[in-house]
Amino acid sequence: MTSPPSARRPRKLSPRPGGPDWWLMLRKFVSHGTSIAAFSPSSRFLARSMVRGIDWAKARCVVELGAGTGPITRELVRAAPAHAKLVIRARDPDFSPVLRATFPSHAVVEADAGRLDEILAHRRIAQADHVISGLPLPSFPPALRDSVIRMSARVLGPDGEFRQITNMPWVYLKLYRTYFRDVSFRLVPLNLPPGGVYFCRGYQPAA
Ligand SMILES: C[S@@+](CC[C@H](N)C(=O)[O-])C[C@H]1O[C@@H](n2cnc3c(N)ncnc32)[C@H](O)[C@@H]1O
Repeated sequence: MTSPPSARRPRKLSPRPGGPDWWLMLRKFVSHGTSIAAFSPSSRFLARSMVRGIDWAKARCVVELGAGTGPITRELVRAAPAHAKLVIRARDPDFSPVLRATFPSHAVVEADAGRLDEILAHRRIAQADHVISGLPLPSFPPALRDSVIRMSARVLGPDGEFRQITNMPWVYLKLYRTYFRDVSFRLVPLNLPPGGVYFCRGYQPAA
């Protein structure tokens, strides 16, 4: 008999160079290139920067897009109080089982980012406080990028925040400024390669 998911012992995350998660990301990067866009999982420093500053006293729902092997998910799960709802989204059938085994008490949704509206509607989520994106948005076709950001903005409402990971510090500041009025950037040198986080508020539909 198999035990219910929450009773299983969670799998340990192993993002360090040479660990299984690192090899999985490298393999996926070699086979899928721009749709993965990073050859290694985010470091704990980058993952923590993605989560730092979330006001958990107010946050009711946080949506993560493009979770990969789950380094950011781990920080979210660690920081989030029991009342906060986390929606973890991954598209790749090689990543979803890893996420489910590592975070057995959290719902991992396997779906393309282009179906964000549908996924949220299905889960009756009308509002989120933060969307945390590990998606390689700059390499998405522009129409898909526009629609992922528009769908995220819709669920965030006027006060929510969109956070985006990058492995190309500063390079895409201008890109995110075409979508949001208020964009700031935090550099995270301790990542392979050095990365950072864009903090975006005030969605403005692309001209
Ligand atoms: C750069 S990796 C980030 C992984 C992880 N968040 C981290 O920080 O290590 C990009 C992730 O976006 C996912 N992804 C790429 N295109 C996607 C799409 N169209 N829909 C959903 N996920 C997508 C990939 O499968 C991968 O998990």
